Amino acid sequence: MSDTKEIEDKILSEISKIKSLKELQEIKIQELGKKGRVSILMRSLSDVSSEEKKILGKSYNELRVNILKAFESKELEIRDADILNRIEIEKLDVTLPVRPGNDNDEGKIHPISRTIDNIIDIFSNFNFTVETGPDIENDFHNFTALNIPDDHPARQDHDTFYISNQDNQERKLLRTHTSPVQIRTMINKKPPIRIIAPGRTFRCDDDATHSPMFHQIEGLVIDKNINMGHLKGLLRAFCEEFFEVSNLPIRFRPSFFPFTEPSAEIDIGYNKIGNSIKIGQGSDWLEVMGCGMVHPNVFVNCNLDPEEWQGFAFGLGVERFAMLKYGISDLRNFYEGDIRWLNHYGFSTTNSPNFDFKED
Ligand code: DAH
Repeated sequence: MSDTKEIEDKILSEISKIKSLKELQEIKIQELGKKGRVSILMRSLSDVSSEEKKILGKSYNELRVNILKAFESKELEIRDADILNRIEIEKLDVTLPVRPGNDNDEGKIHPISRTIDNIIDIFSNFNFTVETGPDIENDFHNFTALNIPDDHPARQDHDTFYISNQDNQERKLLRTHTSPVQIRTMINKKPPIRIIAPGRTFRCDDDATHSPMFHQIEGLVIDKNINMGHLKGLLRAFCEEFFEVSNLPIRFRPSFFPFTEPSAEIDIGYNKIGNSIKIGQGSDWLEVMGCGMVHPNVFVNCNLDPEEWQGFAFGLGVERFAMLKYGISDLRNFYEGDIRWLNHYGFSTTNSPNFDFKED
């Protein structure tokens, strides 16, 4: 027994001096391998009586287990120390500013993202929350519930991308506007509702002012005793805030959308000097968004009583707002991924907001 204890103490003291994983492997083989002290002891059991074998076997086994445990905890100790050491010497300060003079080292915020963030910011201050919906929609949410039935001429204006119909499942499409989020919200939430819904939208169209993928922001307010005056007040305040022009010339021009009645389009006053547009001056009008009072049929399609609830909705194109604010003249620039363009029109991630009007 005392032999065992002596061997154990010796090996444990050896283990305690180990400094590296390499050394640990070597000593482990040396001590626990075939020629190691523990194996020799184990083999010696074949020469003893079965009585002694029981007692010695138990103590040799305990010795083996204790030594294995000591190797294991030593290994953990070395690995932990290694990690701490690497953390110490491989320090990286991610808060350091980029070295000056190399524009490409700093990522830029895309003007579309910046415009969406900016619009969300403004509406958050008006107590709106943000809702989202899927890019792949069905006929019901994109058209039918919005009072655009199958044979409605407005369907043709949407140049819809349909997704090929497999296994006779319900026909799916890429949403042509963010208005289906109105439907999803009215079906899933109880009024009062005060939401905006930014997102990607898709239409089969491609030229300097249209892209097959673009972005819209939808808005919806449902409550009791809501009228057109609320709509006008809110959207005027929003446009003045977004374009940073007080007393912005603005007009609500009667229009038509199947899901609102009455419907209007909002125009804002602008002036074109050379190639650049000055918002809020001059005598020309620029159409910026659609809006109107939610149609009673839309309420009914969402299981809400139009006698009890009223509301208004609006929708705007993000690209158009970004082009007007930042003086970008070709919509296709947004999606080309040209790093030089992004360095010019993008926004710094570290500087405070800068909405300076940039000329093209
Ligand atoms: N969904 C319309 C479109 O894509 C935009 C729009 C107009 C949305 C009027 C509205 C609205 O919510 O009230 O052209």
